[in-house]
This record gives sequence, structure tokens and C-alpha cells, in this order.
Amino acid sequence: MEEALVLPDYLDLSPELRKRFESIAARETILEVSHLRKEFPGMENRPPILGDISFEVKRREFICVIGASGCGKSTMLRMLGGLEPCTAGEVRVSGKSVHGPGADRGMVFQEYTLFPWLTVKKNVMFGPRMAGQGRDSSEAEALQWLEMVGLADRVDAYPNQLSGGMKQRVAIARALANYPDILLMDEPFGALDAQTRSQMQRHLLQIWRNVDVTILFVTHDLDEAIFLADRIVVLGAHPGRILEIIQVPVDRPRSQAQALSPHFLAVKKRLEQLIHPEDPDAVKSLPMIRMARVGTEAEP
Ligand SMILES: Nc1ncnc2c1ncn2[C@@H]1O[C@H](COP(=O)(O)OP(=O)(O)OP(=O)(O)O)[C@@H](O)[C@H]1O
Ligand SMILES: [Mg+2]
Repeated sequence: MEEALVLPDYLDLSPELRKRFESIAARETILEVSHLRKEFPGMENRPPILGDISFEVKRREFICVIGASGCGKSTMLRMLGGLEPCTAGEVRVSGKSVHGPGADRGMVFQEYTLFPWLTVKKNVMFGPRMAGQGRDSSEAEALQWLEMVGLADRVDAYPNQLSGGMKQRVAIARALANYPDILLMDEPFGALDAQTRSQMQRHLLQIWRNVDVTILFVTHDLDEAIFLADRIVVLGAHPGRILEIIQVPVDRPRSQAQALSPHFLAVKKRLEQLIHPEDPDAVKSLPMIRMARVGTEAEP
């Protein structure tokens, strides 16, 4: 596996960013993934879903995982969450080996996963209550997190009374209320419209700045990955494996305007090369079917 800083010769890394990368590298390791492998039963003659995946994530780092559809991103995230056993290899969170779900890992999925029969506040109180906290302190905890995600005025609503973006904000509050070491997010904004999605990205960065939490965020949207991440883990398929880990040379705080900066575009170009390599013969291999009424001319 290669680790790379994608920067053409004519671009510099800002001194602030250089310092930030150095300071991240010196932090404690929160997540260690070593030689992770995944096969599902009955697929012995095919390449494994995940081959041999190893990487580390430092405390308060924001990592995005990107790769083509079907390359094993969700499978990997479920393994890190302890929802899916490893065929081989090991996952450690804050030094402890993962053998099942645990409060040290919060999860947010693309599908809305709130309990529909509980109010927003009770959804967020659920984790602290399960952990044995009293009703009053769980409620205070829930209100604090709901304020952080900007939903202090919707605490008594039910999930079906909320928009998609609001539901995901509650899901984030619910995950954070357990004080996880790491937040594992699987395309959490994938079902939202473009404008809400971009608002949610800014919102997530703001929350991450204010909370001591490490984030591993799966997406297949290149702009989203560059906008959010310190480093991007790029996965390839058959078997799912790391193609490259890219340090994102874009200053923080991030803004939408940076999407046109040479640094942002340099990373985007590299991601495009890795994920969507140009195949000039791809169209030739498609079956040739013409659908035109008799007498009409289809464009050549
Ligand atoms: N329970 C299962 N049994 C057998 N195969 C599975 C199972 N779960 C996932 N797979 C296979 O593993 C591969 C990776 O799936 P996964 O959902 O992890 O991909 P992904 O990268 O998250 O894709 P997407 O971007 O579309 O969400 C797919 O080929 C899928 O069919
Ligand atoms: Mg997926």
C-alpha cells in the first residue's frame, strides 16, 4: 500500500497544513486495521471481497474511504463496527481487539435508523440509558447533543416528522451521546439532495471541530471526500484492497470556494485516475442495439 501526498511540483503545501500533518502523525493511534480479509461462505473460487487491508487512523483525524460501487466499503465498515466477523486479520480500537459491536464505535448509516416509536430526545437518550445512566442525566446529555446538531427545538418530534437531513443529525447526536472513540459513517448523506448534503457536510465539520472524536466516513462522492478528509483511503475491487492513501493538501477551515483551488483539483484528478480509469474500448464492448422507428434517422 502506498501513502502519497498528491501535489504537482508547482504547488506548495501551506506551512499550517504541514504542521497539522506532523501533529496528526504524532498523535495516538485510535484505529488499527491489520491484514483484514473477508470472504463470504460459498465463494471459495472467487477473489475475496476484501484482500489484505491494513491502515491506521490517528486521534481526531477525519478519514474518508472511497471506491467504486461493490468494492467492499460497507463490508469493511461493518467489520470495523463488529457487525460482521473477519475471515482473517484484526481490528483494534484504542488498543483493544474488536470482537463485536461496542460503545467505543458509533455508527451512522445511509438508511435512516432511528427508532420510529421514540421521540428525537428519547432516541438520543437510548444509548446513555442502556449504559446505565439515570433518566435525568441521560436527558441532559441528549439535550446537549441535540443542541450541538442544531435540533434543540425539535426534541419532542417523532422521526417521521423530520426531514432527511434532520434525521441524520439526530443519528449523529445519538451516536455521539455514547462518547465513541470513533464514528463510523457509511454514506450518511447519500440520500439527501445536493443542497442539504452540502449543508450537512459543513455541519459535520463544525461538530467534529468541537468534539474529541475520530471519523471514518465512507462515500463514493469525490468532492465530498476531499471537502471533509485529512486523508482519503482509496479502495480498488476484486479483491477489495487499498490502492492509495492520499493526504489532502487543502487548508482548514474548509469552504465550498476551495473546490476550484488547484490543490483541490489536483486531488480530484488523482482520485479520478484511480477510481474511474479511462477505458477507450469500454463503449466498443457494449452490445449494438438500435431502437428507431422505420424511416427515422437515429444519430450515428
Ligand atoms: N452477506 C453477503 N453475502 C455475500 N456477499 C456479500 C454480502 N454482503 C456483501 N456482499 C458482496 O460484497 C461485495 C461488496 O459489497 P459492499 O456492500 O461492501 O460494497 P460497497 O463498496 O459498499 O458498494 P456501494 O458503493 O454500492 O455501497 C459485493 O460484491 C456484495 O455483493
Ligand atoms: Mg456500501
